[in-house]
Amino acid sequence: MHAPALPDTLGATSAWPALTGIAYGGDYTPEQWPREVWEEDVALMRDAGVNLVSIGIFAWALLEVSEGEFDFDWLDDVIDLLHRNGISVDLGTPTASPPAWFFAQHPDARAVTRDGVPLGFGARGMASHSAPAYREAAVRIATELARRYGHHPAVVLWHVHNEYGVPVGEDYSAHSVREWRRWLQERYETLDALNAAWGTAFWGQHYGEWEHIGAPATAPSVVNPAQRLDFARFTDHQLRSCFIAERDAIRAHSDRPITTNFMANQHNGCDLWAWAREVDIVSDDHYLWAADEEGEIGLAIAADLTRSVGRGAPWILMEHSTSAVNWQPRNVAKRPGEMARNSLSHFGRGADGILFFQWRASRSGAEKFHSAMLPHAGTTSRVWREVVDLGAKLRALAEVRGSHVPAEVAVLWDFESFWAQDLEWRPSEDVSHAERIRAFYEKLWRDQITVNFALPGHDLSRYKLVIAPAQYMLSAADAENLNRYVEGGGTLVVSFFSAVVDEHDAVHAGGFAAPLEPSLGLRVEEHLPLRAGDVAGIVFDETPYPADTWQEDLVLTTAEVRATYDGGPAAGGPAVTRNTHGDGVGWYLSTRPDAAGLAAVLDAAYADAGISPSGLPAGVEAVRRITDEAEYLIAINHGTETVSLQTSGFDLLTQEEARGTLVLSAGDVAVIRTQRTAEGGGR
Ligand code: GLA
Repeated sequence: MHAPALPDTLGATSAWPALTGIAYGGDYTPEQWPREVWEEDVALMRDAGVNLVSIGIFAWALLEVSEGEFDFDWLDDVIDLLHRNGISVDLGTPTASPPAWFFAQHPDARAVTRDGVPLGFGARGMASHSAPAYREAAVRIATELARRYGHHPAVVLWHVHNEYGVPVGEDYSAHSVREWRRWLQERYETLDALNAAWGTAFWGQHYGEWEHIGAPATAPSVVNPAQRLDFARFTDHQLRSCFIAERDAIRAHSDRPITTNFMANQHNGCDLWAWAREVDIVSDDHYLWAADEEGEIGLAIAADLTRSVGRGAPWILMEHSTSAVNWQPRNVAKRPGEMARNSLSHFGRGADGILFFQWRASRSGAEKFHSAMLPHAGTTSRVWREVVDLGAKLRALAEVRGSHVPAEVAVLWDFESFWAQDLEWRPSEDVSHAERIRAFYEKLWRDQITVNFALPGHDLSRYKLVIAPAQYMLSAADAENLNRYVEGGGTLVVSFFSAVVDEHDAVHAGGFAAPLEPSLGLRVEEHLPLRAGDVAGIVFDETPYPADTWQEDLVLTTAEVRATYDGGPAAGGPAVTRNTHGDGVGWYLSTRPDAAGLAAVLDAAYADAGISPSGLPAGVEAVRRITDEAEYLIAINHGTETVSLQTSGFDLLTQEEARGTLVLSAGDVAVIRTQRTAEGGGR
């Protein structure tokens, strides 16, 4: 395989927990088991090569048995037992699930749904993010834990809360409404500014008093979208301030790194670009979507996004599954080898820790049909054998820790834009940002071109190609940033229904996509969504491709036509355009072509950007991690045939030398080390 010139990486580092090698383990819930089982657990953890377990995440009721009355004896014993056995601890704060006594004493602290229903006890989920009693209680338990264990040699990492925003995010309680008004006053300072930003002249929504502003609860018709967008921002802010309060409480008593587990592309409610700045280490939970026959592509999106929000620093896969996931409609089990492929794909994309939910399968409760490292079937099971095998593999990969993943292409990923796009009364319910991002990413994945995700306001000059598959909301400042990127020589590809509104969800003056006119050389005169099932093709480089969902009437100023519509409302008009601006190029796709059509357009954009596909056999995933001295190729064969790759180097997994050709059987993974030359290229 040809080695790329040294591409830029984001290159951030993080405060890594004091651990040897790659972190390996999972959520451990000794509180669900009698003590004799604990001894067996740690013995088996050693057999599997587990070196890190996350504990205490849902144990609030057993740690603070009533308000202010603590019982840490059992946790002392667990942590000491793990320590004696050389297993480090990622210590959770249990604040994602307050105890029954908390809700009994503070009924007003319950979160309330958009329809006004206060959420009851008996499941899990936090209280109102804005209830003073919850905030106090969360800081109290975090402080007590940090005081007691902040310097314990086993505790190498703090795991604050669990998946903020899941299952409780937006909260319509009185506490939340009070804080919402405060947040709005800080943001807008005057009611005039708020009225202007929300466009309250529409439908007579003008506010004359701050006290009249409510949360955007269920109303007779569609609620003001700018108000709802701000409420999503407020919710994100409140959840993050809950995290910050716990983090700072821990920091007062402990110098160990602090994380909280994200859900990258599987939960949109938190703006992870902002969250990643607040944690010492980025960590993520990813559950393979079983209905997706190419779940490895969704997995790659999650991993690339996680690395990107952390500015390229190594990160921890805090949870994934060894096999079935019980909250999906069908508990599709992973087949032999799949767990290792999933794990090593995360690893290849920058994860220096591979952890699972969970260590031992729970006998009771809502998650008893979820897989685990130690399944109900015990140590005679295939899953257990694969868990032990994966532990050995990760030990062999220890030297890769701390290396970076280079990328030459950025795909824009903007949570705020998604929040806005997902509101009601958009031009077509068939348009989905997740679907568009997946379609563009999938083409890059098939070409094995590694991607970073980015915000439109980021410094993009390091990238040869930037793709905006779904940038519905784009501020004027961010549009200028994109225009500067193109002017400076970048190649930008923009898909339809982008640059439509500003940060207040107001249509840009001058019409849809007007702020990108310098880059794209066109204006979007009218959106022309298609009826469900209608297919109207495009002709690109004399080849017809089917396209559906959407067309547009484009008015070209400086752009050249690269594809025309051969049917539908815009028949004969431009469908795909290319524009030169300064030293760069702006492409625009005003429809949703099939995969082959999209591939043809992107191949042409690659040529402008000066990048080329890897040329690997179909189904082979290949990612590189680099240090100053070495380059590691992580190659995964997801296909059903044996393939040969042209590469030389030392396979860390088989401990064998590949001399020119690497034979990779169906389902196999190789991690090939090569030395890097002084000039920076791999050999
Ligand atoms: C989430 C949670 C875990 C567990 C798993 C099961 O990610 O963080 O506590 O419920 O899902 O898949």
